[in-house]
Amino acid sequence: MLDFRPHLGINQRGHLTLGGADLVELAEKYGTPLYVYDEQRIRQRYREFRDAFAGYGDVLVCYACKANTSLAVLSILRHEGAGADIVSEGELYLALKAGFQAEKIIFTGNNKSDRELERAVEAGVVINLDSLHELERLIEIVEAQKAEAKVSFRVNPEVSPETHPHLATGLRESKFGIHEELVLKAYERALSCSRLDVAGIHMHIGSQITKVEPYVEATRRLFDIMGRLRRELNLELEFADLGGGVGIRYSAEQPYITPAQLAEALLPVIEEKLAEHSLPRPRLLFEPGRYIVGDAGVLLARVYTIKATPYKKFIGCDAGFNLLLRPAMYGAYHEVVVANRAGEAPAEEVTVAGNLCESGDLLAKDRSLPRIEKGDVLAFLDAGAYGFVMASQYNSRPRCAEVLVNRGRAELIRYAEDFEDLAAKQLVPERLK
Ligand SMILES: Cc1ncc(COP(=O)(O)O)c(C=O)c1O
Repeated sequence: MLDFRPHLGINQRGHLTLGGADLVELAEKYGTPLYVYDEQRIRQRYREFRDAFAGYGDVLVCYACKANTSLAVLSILRHEGAGADIVSEGELYLALKAGFQAEKIIFTGNNKSDRELERAVEAGVVINLDSLHELERLIEIVEAQKAEAKVSFRVNPEVSPETHPHLATGLRESKFGIHEELVLKAYERALSCSRLDVAGIHMHIGSQITKVEPYVEATRRLFDIMGRLRRELNLELEFADLGGGVGIRYSAEQPYITPAQLAEALLPVIEEKLAEHSLPRPRLLFEPGRYIVGDAGVLLARVYTIKATPYKKFIGCDAGFNLLLRPAMYGAYHEVVVANRAGEAPAEEVTVAGNLCESGDLLAKDRSLPRIEKGDVLAFLDAGAYGFVMASQYNSRPRCAEVLVNRGRAELIRYAEDFEDLAAKQLVPERLK
């Protein structure tokens, strides 16, 4: 557990620590369930990504906000100098609120509403277009508003990232991006509108990718398209955005790649393609989300019910897929640690169940864990990305609090919701009262 997660530790009391803070104490102080993030780990992972590509020169790492939109997390990355990759008007609102400069925000999304396009134009962020139809709608908007917009196009590079099918976004049949057959037409049309600054090209092939080859293949395609744009449209782009997707190690056995390995594989290919197509050096953008925040977060839950059936032993805790959806949605694996007895050897095989009325609400199946008792605190590791952001109030369970740890000191960054929040914004027609 600790070898590749240096931000975790076990203190003298045998308690699991994150960023130097005792997680059992945090569970007592703030109550469970609870999300906890380590600020220094987030900074370290961001820097690792940025530094891996520093040799290229002009690189901007745009944190993919969708992975974790807590304002404190966004603020950390804004302080680090990151840009932001956003996918909705809500993320635009949060990114601006966290202080990201509009020029460092790129708005991707495969199906933006007119209102989202209008807001993006008003805010002055880069708009990454996903279809010819979206382009036509944007042209109508900039003409009507007599405004300008900087745009890029998301290309569908038609490669398999060899990840979970729900996490593959650059397949030929995927809903994302513009296929090569159409992409020149899209750029030509965009160039015909003087209100658009046609600045970039983008791809994002998927998430939780653990091999460099799909990136290499897709990057070749992307730069070949840039070559065609130069030759056929005389267009030289300001930036090339290679997306996010670098996977993290949810378990010791799982294969993985590092940003340094990715840079080592990609940068020579990029140099080769720049020379082959006589292209000026574009700024390189990346959009990692999971890599930056994934292993910095844990979800804490307290054990209430121990239930031995003739077939399985279930450990019932006070969190379910309402708070951590990934196991139910993708069959994802999150390592579980009994935080108050973190060093203890496994003693039995159990399945950790959530508290929702759904048979799919199992957070960890058939795991070897120390003998668990009522009151134990379970830590679900690597829950910093696509954790809280996917939380819901299903079964009328208010969403939990979030805490940020910095060098051993913990601060609340989100209050837990209460029952009023379940009723907030709801209306009952007079006749039903
Ligand atoms: C366009 C885009 N960029 C970046 C990301 C971030 O991906 P990851 O968190 O796997 O790095 C996503 C997530 O799927 C995405 O859709």
